[in-house]
Amino acid sequence: MRIEDGKVLEALPELGVELRRGVSLAELTSLGIGGTTDLLRIGRHEAIPELLNLLDGQGVTHKFLGGGSNLLAIDGELPFVVMQLGPTDMRERSEDRRQESGKRHGSEDPPLQPQLHDVVIEGNFAFVDAAADLGKTVTFCAKNGLGGMEGLIGVPGTVGGALRMNAGAYGTQIGSYVREVKVYRAGEHRIEILTGAEISFEYRHTSFAPDDMMLAVKLELPSKPYSEILQGIRICNEKRRASQPLGQKSAGCIFKNPPGASAGRMIDELGLKGLHVGDARVSDRHANFFVNAGRASAADMLALIANVRGQVEKAYGVTLENEVVVWNA
Ligand code: EPU
Repeated sequence: MRIEDGKVLEALPELGVELRRGVSLAELTSLGIGGTTDLLRIGRHEAIPELLNLLDGQGVTHKFLGGGSNLLAIDGELPFVVMQLGPTDMRERSEDRRQESGKRHGSEDPPLQPQLHDVVIEGNFAFVDAAADLGKTVTFCAKNGLGGMEGLIGVPGTVGGALRMNAGAYGTQIGSYVREVKVYRAGEHRIEILTGAEISFEYRHTSFAPDDMMLAVKLELPSKPYSEILQGIRICNEKRRASQPLGQKSAGCIFKNPPGASAGRMIDELGLKGLHVGDARVSDRHANFFVNAGRASAADMLALIANVRGQVEKAYGVTLENEVVVWNA
């Protein structure tokens, strides 16, 4: 979709939103699949309510993109524009955060020392921008003597994406460490700060509304010696390298695990590794990873997903639910 509306085009620079014309989702997703549309890069959280009111008012349909690592978008010209958080000014956000924190707790924060562009550490708390890379956040916290998230080290994507899905691996899930989330609630048309207790984090599922937009998070992490955290990180990295097709284009696991079972094992037991539709292929290394082995289209990948789901249903009587998010309308 291309934005043609004059009112929208005029307002974007004032709102600090950068318009990138005709970007390809194939270049913004780890699967390397997806059609083209206009991309809006948001520079200021506080501009989001006005931006969305404007888009809704002018009938411009939109979706919000995180790191693109768990996403399958359809082919061709997409019927919506895509929004993404761009780099925002750390000092501005730190100042916002100080005010919010003061409002909530009535306390004075110590002076902030931006250390990584999108993460600020204070004691056992890490204040993280939703657009921050999850892996970099885990290692940055580790260097500051904060552990707990070792299992998440190889999970691709942004902290915001991890939060929305309650990403997890090797016994760790991000939800356990969440104390506050700054979120744009589309239903209420405003930015809110939710406490961890107000959000329910379940297996690859949270109580956020589908159109809630994650903006920032406050994590509370246990203190640990760096060497100990590093050891944990190395072990998880090795396990992942041994069992997952890391060098190939994928969206991680395609299906959620059904209660008490492993989707990967079920698909493997049916002998479906290597099954393919065009260049969309069930990985030889881990059967719940479907890789783009060349120039797979979304139609190829969706056909492969439907085929495997059908075979698992027939053999085990279990309907596998997508873990990958599909943008098809
Ligand atoms: N297995 C097979 N064949 C396969 C794949 C797995 O027999 O092709 C067997 C393994 O040998 C093991 C069992 O199935 O006995 C479970 O496999 P694994 O340890 O790889 O875990 P998983 O349940 O397949 C989950 C998460 C992964 C996460 C790993 C490690 C889901 C859907 N998957 O995979 O997360 O990295 O545990 O904690 O919850 C993701 O969310 O995208 C993802 C990849």
